[in-house]
Amino acid sequence: MDSHARLHCLIPRVEIEAAVNRLATEITADYHDKKPILIGILKGSFIFLADLVRRLDFPLELDFVRLSSYGSSRKTSGTVEVVQGLESSVEGRHVIVVEDIVDSGLTISFFLNYLKKNAPASLKLCALTDKSSRRQVPVTIDYLGFTVPDKFLVGYGLDFDEQFRYLPDICILEE
Ligand code: IMP
Ligand code: MG
Repeated sequence: MDSHARLHCLIPRVEIEAAVNRLATEITADYHDKKPILIGILKGSFIFLADLVRRLDFPLELDFVRLSSYGSSRKTSGTVEVVQGLESSVEGRHVIVVEDIVDSGLTISFFLNYLKKNAPASLKLCALTDKSSRRQVPVTIDYLGFTVPDKFLVGYGLDFDEQFRYLPDICILEE
């Protein structure tokens, strides 16, 4: 079941590393004096966020949420739930949401709207990948790693049915 025969590499680790460095430079320019809260969307963003924050050498805080979306299938349900909420208050704070992939956009737009109700000083989105051809609702990605094709991707935190998150490259999982 965990055979790698159906995988091939789309974004090798050296390209991911270069993109993380670029995003860190952009975020540093904008936030070095703002003590932002970076909110990682679990579980998919955990590797990306861990690499990103180690390139950010200024005061910041971290928090995490878990949102239900895909379950064990490849299709988004459209119904989003906060399974595990924030510990911190975002009121008056500069917030950067960190996501692994924006696909239909339903999950992230739900969460951004939820945060907006809690009056952050500013709210931006950093996403490693954007499957823009699949968008159902408009989403502004302020800091983007890669635009990706309409393929199912795994690795570097992304899973299929909880498998493959540990792969160091972003790979296409063939049907
Ligand atoms: P959306 O609500 O359709 O934008 O789905 C977003 C969420 O679905 C992401 O946070 C991922 O967890 C998951 N997802 C979407 N596309 C993929 C993929 O290609 N591989 C793994 N997870 C994905
Ligand atoms: Mg996710």
